[in-house]
Amino acid sequence: ETIKEITEFRNQFSNETIGFIPTMGALHNGHESLMIESKKNCDITIVSIYLNPKQFGKNEDYNKYPKQITIDINICKKNKIDALFIPNNNEIYSKNNITKPYLPSKKLTTILCGKSRPDFFNGVCNVVERLFNIVTPTHAFFGDKDLQQRLIIEEMVKDLNKNIIIIGCPIIRDKNGLALSSRNSYFSKDEYNIVIQIPKLMSLIIK
Ligand code: PAF
Repeated sequence: ETIKEITEFRNQFSNETIGFIPTMGALHNGHESLMIESKKNCDITIVSIYLNPKQFGKNEDYNKYPKQITIDINICKKNKIDALFIPNNNEIYSKNNITKPYLPSKKLTTILCGKSRPDFFNGVCNVVERLFNIVTPTHAFFGDKDLQQRLIIEEMVKDLNKNIIIIGCPIIRDKNGLALSSRNSYFSKDEYNIVIQIPKLMSLIIK
């Protein structure tokens, strides 16, 4: 749970590759696919679960974001994750840590998701930079469901000269083609039947 503990764990390894999967919990098969990829490519795999308040807007779902910590711990155990870091807000946004947060380029943050969520990617970079500094991974794994997020993080790593290889992993879909997301649990049955038309229509357009 603490930076001290995860640092002690991390510092046991100097020559090994360290794969890192930052998450906000409510883990599903999409997250598991990142764990499998990290286990395949890296000697050690570290997962974090941290619901980052700074990437939620004022009227967004921070307070109702799905939580299932016991299930998440079991998913990590099943996938033989070497360490699971579950920090709290004080640990991540400690008053002693006054480093100026990295600001991603407007070119990438004002389009697509950034149009309706203007502070979202600043909040994502803020926490991912902190997590990278704490965990100091050699590799980090991100799902291509959030392609814009991955591109912004790749640019951040380049701008900050961090020696971390960012690996994008394919979208994992349910049996009806809907991309897995922790937030899918918000859909009622009727809403679900509507949203599953989106991947169907998109594949028709692409054809
Ligand atoms: O994709 C997510 O779950 C989050 O944006 C991340 C990368 C864990 C940062 O909070």
